[in-house]
Amino acid sequence: MGELDGRTALVTGGSRGIGRAVALRLAAEGALVVVHYGGNDAAAEETVALIAKVGGRAFAVQARFGESGAVDRLFEGLTAGLGSHGADGLDILVNNAGIHSASSIGQLTEEEFERLLAVNVSTPIFVIQRALPLLRDGGRIVNMASAATRIADPRQIGYTVTKTALAALGASLANELGRRGITVNTVNPGVVRTDMTAGYTNVPEAVAGLESLTALGRLGEPEDIADVVGFLAGPQGRWVTGQIIDVSGGTYLGPITAG
Ligand SMILES: NC(=O)c1ccc[n+]([C@@H]2O[C@H](COP(=O)([O-])OP(=O)(O)OC[C@H]3O[C@@H](n4cnc5c(N)ncnc54)[C@H](OP(=O)(O)O)[C@@H]3O)[C@@H](O)[C@H]2O)c1
Repeated sequence: MGELDGRTALVTGGSRGIGRAVALRLAAEGALVVVHYGGNDAAAEETVALIAKVGGRAFAVQARFGESGAVDRLFEGLTAGLGSHGADGLDILVNNAGIHSASSIGQLTEEEFERLLAVNVSTPIFVIQRALPLLRDGGRIVNMASAATRIADPRQIGYTVTKTALAALGASLANELGRRGITVNTVNPGVVRTDMTAGYTNVPEAVAGLESLTALGRLGEPEDIADVVGFLAGPQGRWVTGQIIDVSGGTYLGPITAG
């Protein structure tokens, strides 16, 4: 028996990286997982196959966030897929899909910032709005923001602003939904090895520099984040709501002194 047996979970951006690890984690605990993805069919199919291989249950739904009608398409696919698996309703929503941009204030274009806002902020808000009628009492919402929200890095200003806006959702929603036993939390990952960061996490000098900024002395792996999401999504997370949880190995805590 897993602690999420009989539960359903939607993981946006569940095809790769952190989202895949979250999907695997929730499925391993028994949840039926809706693996949402933007366009990479092969990656989504692989996530579903990895879950099935260990006896879990999942199906994929494609919707390119930022395009008109994407949230409608997601929920049409979700409702149909749940029905064909003999399920209805949702217990867990993980708003994980997101995009990055490495632009300074001088480089950021309006088009780029609008896209960041659409995928990283507007879409999670309207995914939550659409999910709420399906979300059962005692449900869980986890939003994936970033440790970038507390670190001044002028090279990714648009991304940082959108993730800070996403993080701001949690406490207000937690107050609205708490009487139904629904928790809302934000997870702020530090640098994690995924496709999003491959441009520099494959460069040894860059890795050494980033590792030296973490108390635990290493970069994150997707499972480091998935375990925290699993905790928040499971019964043990029942008394945690409206919180922003930094999961970064202690990135930029202050000066690191030897001995
Ligand atoms: N990696 C890090 O160091 C790090 C640090 C802090 C926060 N985060 C946040 O954690 C989340 C996951 O990051 P990651 O590194 O795992 O990213 P990733 O490896 O780039 O994977 C992104 C996932 O989101 C989906 N996605 C991207 N754009 C989409 C769109 N327009 N519409 C629908 N789906 C879309 C992708 O679907 P397809 O496979 O179909 O493309 C994929 O499943 C993001 O919100 C990111 O900002 C990451």
